[in-house]
Amino acid sequence: MNTLMRRALLLMHSRTYCIKQYAVAGTEAAAKGKLNYEEFIDSRHQQAQRSIVVQVSSEKSYPELYNYCSRFGHIVTVQHYCVQHEDVLHYMLLEYASAGEATAAITSSAYNAELSGSSSGSGSGCGVPVRSPFLWFRAATAGAGRRGQAKLAANHKALPLSTIDGTRPPTHDYLQELLRGANSIEQQLQLLYDQTRLNDLGVRMRFLAALQVQESISGMFPDALAQPFGSSVNGFGKMGCDLDLILRFDGKTTANGLDSQREASRLIYHTKENLSNGRSQTQRQMECIGDVLHLFLPGVCHVRRILQARVPIIKYHHEHLDLEVDLSMSNLTGFYMSELLYMFGELDSRVRPLTFSVRRWAQSCGLTNPSPGRWITNFSLTCLVMFFMQQLRQPILPAIGALAKAASATDIRVTEDGINCTFARDMERVGFQSRNTSSLSELLLQFFEFYSQFDFHNRAISLNEGRALAKPDHSAMYIVNPLEQLLNVSKNVSLEECERLRIEVRNAAWMLESEVENTTLTESERREQSWGLLNLFKNPEKSVIRPNMFFKPRMVEVSDLFDKSQTAAMTPPAVNYKNAT
Ligand code: CTP
Ligand code: MG
Repeated sequence: MNTLMRRALLLMHSRTYCIKQYAVAGTEAAAKGKLNYEEFIDSRHQQAQRSIVVQVSSEKSYPELYNYCSRFGHIVTVQHYCVQHEDVLHYMLLEYASAGEATAAITSSAYNAELSGSSSGSGSGCGVPVRSPFLWFRAATAGAGRRGQAKLAANHKALPLSTIDGTRPPTHDYLQELLRGANSIEQQLQLLYDQTRLNDLGVRMRFLAALQVQESISGMFPDALAQPFGSSVNGFGKMGCDLDLILRFDGKTTANGLDSQREASRLIYHTKENLSNGRSQTQRQMECIGDVLHLFLPGVCHVRRILQARVPIIKYHHEHLDLEVDLSMSNLTGFYMSELLYMFGELDSRVRPLTFSVRRWAQSCGLTNPSPGRWITNFSLTCLVMFFMQQLRQPILPAIGALAKAASATDIRVTEDGINCTFARDMERVGFQSRNTSSLSELLLQFFEFYSQFDFHNRAISLNEGRALAKPDHSAMYIVNPLEQLLNVSKNVSLEECERLRIEVRNAAWMLESEVENTTLTESERREQSWGLLNLFKNPEKSVIRPNMFFKPRMVEVSDLFDKSQTAAMTPPAVNYKNAT
């Protein structure tokens, strides 16, 4: 194992280090990876309730902070991260053994106008006192400082703290070097996933952002629930991904129902009458929530309201978490769609690494773009990968229709707009077992081959049926939305972008095929030059669209993909990847 690989392994462990495992609800099951989606969401939500984030001047403050905060309870884990502001800002995410202990720490916190209002610590602003899990650790006054130091020496030693900043994705160069040092394409695929997926700290931070919103309005809306969904929780998120958040004023009662005492109560809240138009009501409420977040919540900045979209959202940046947030109040299907993706990812260990490599490839050749537009989104790409795995001769994933058929009474979920999101949550009820034994690299090649043959012109992709259907309209690409089957997930994709995708999947198939066949490189040559996945991932800024001059259409059977006599005839002249990295 070379030094870089050793560092990578070390980094993987350090980034998600849990200093001491404590027997709290959910963590044991989480450690065994046996949580279903609702249990996972619930355990992370509870973890956020046991946590606080404290800004410190540097990691050197850690022993003092640990000592000070220990007076409120037993600290289970501490994670350090940095945010690049004008200077580098340091934060400690502390998890207590119980929510009560975290509450005690928050309740004990002082408010001081001199210290509030500015994340850079200059103390230039002064804001309204707001209760939140985001705190400062101010310097001790002279006398208290001396007493504190003496006490510190007498107290328990603080838990060991890693100084690795675990919130940022690894740099391009680091990843390149790491992948170059791998033994095989298979290992490259796995490393890419392990190194770029959202880590434990990233998940904790996202649930804290959700809790902050929920708690800030809980006085007026005691049943409000803010729940993360999308890539932050479905297992397909990468480091630095945005947080999709749904806020529902009655979320707790819809999720858990009223307890029997409240259900039987003869006293009923007086409420304001709803506007007749639900959509404009949601827009007005969101406008108001947007103002509350903007004016009062510490850390929340750059608030933008996008209320005319199909799903109205409020976008903001959280400066203490270095996080972009998309908050909606009317998109529960997105939450259940995330559950479906979570279940697919849990079902087979190849699903997530394969999706990561496809998404990385698409990003590197400029098929995806962070700003919305006529290009394919990560979510549509993920659907393409799921569909590919459903339609294989030996499927790796079941059709969503099979999950819907196997649902029991406890699986019934219908959104406020009447959209049926009922499907079996327990995969054992579905009785699906895959006999597919293909490796990740084989699957990646088959993915590219499959979509280079796919008839996007006439066919629609249905994850519900696990097969292609006749296209119901003239959209360039049609992916039936699994939970709202009258909608097309990829409606935004233009004809030009769809054609670009077809060209790029063909190029990728050629490229990967020759990489799979090329077993002649020595170990030292591998370390010095690009090979395997690296030749697939080009620099997005320098990507060029190559004309489709080498492609000869043919029918490809999955079984003949690795037949050398066939593939030799397919190999195109060397493609000039002039700008390949
Ligand atoms: N979603 C959906 N239908 C769409 C778009 C989105 O159901 N047409 C749901 C999916 O559950 C998706 C979530 O909304 O996961 C969030 O959408 P988005 O942020 O676009 O995708 P992510 O999966 O979060 O991917 P990314 O990391 O690019 O944000
Ligand atoms: Mg997202």
